[in-house]
Amino acid sequence: MPQDYEQFISNIYQKTGINLALYKEAQMKRRLTSLYQKKGYSSFKEFFQALDKDKQLMNEFLDRMTINVSEFYRNAKRWEVLDQSIIPELLSKNTTLKTWSAACSTGEEPFTLSMVLSKHMPLSKIQILATDIDENVLAKAKRGVYSERSLNEAPKEMVKKFFQQDGSYYTVGDEIKKTVTFKKQNLLADHYGGPFDLIVCRNVLIYFTEEAKESIYQKFSAALRPGGILFVGSTEQIFNPGTYNFETADTFFYRKK
Ligand SMILES: C[S@@+](CC[C@H](N)C(=O)[O-])C[C@H]1O[C@@H](n2cnc3c(N)ncnc32)[C@H](O)[C@@H]1O
Repeated sequence: MPQDYEQFISNIYQKTGINLALYKEAQMKRRLTSLYQKKGYSSFKEFFQALDKDKQLMNEFLDRMTINVSEFYRNAKRWEVLDQSIIPELLSKNTTLKTWSAACSTGEEPFTLSMVLSKHMPLSKIQILATDIDENVLAKAKRGVYSERSLNEAPKEMVKKFFQQDGSYYTVGDEIKKTVTFKKQNLLADHYGGPFDLIVCRNVLIYFTEEAKESIYQKFSAALRPGGILFVGSTEQIFNPGTYNFETADTFFYRKK
């Protein structure tokens, strides 16, 4: 029933400010249908009535709609390009860098960025804003405790240098934690600060509709200073960078003109 989902979209928007219409429909509907069926509801209408009263269920819904998987040094070769070519380029123009990890999930991405930046500047000079729409992942990010699996791609010397190991768990050291400020932010609705030297936004735009994606690229472009870089995920190539006043700096890196 298409109207059932449309009404749900409108109810969720009124209650949370999250606009599900900007997420790819088939995928989102499938994820949410399987959740409500598992919970014993038979329509989006019934599901919303329950969500409206039950905070725990609302949290489960938010957890299901935001796909939170992440890992340190995800697609490690791209982080090498950042380390060896992009950061030196940015630092040739500015000695401090204003950076933003947008849709940072449980923190692996901003902490990776901090470790990579630490090879180029003192930790005391690193400032990373890290944002996500989901408060649960932000709480986990602030704790900074990870399983061994999430560190598979991280260089051994970095793990040794910046983590405390406790059995099979690894905690990010305070010196790295201090470089990152976590904040709740909805990329589809909230204000973007700036101007930034580097915006890292990976593995989230794939969930959005084309129109939503285009509007986010425009806003990223406006939030970058000229010469600033947008670093996207490894399935998220921008096919027409010029439209957003970007030029390709390397694969999956775009420079604001
Ligand atoms: C798959 S994770 C990506 C994490 C990390 N960037 C990476 O590449 O490993 C996607 C994240 O996007 C967040 N997200 C989804 N919709 C969002 C929105 N409208 N605004 C901000 N973050 C959003 C989710 O909460 C989730 O943590």
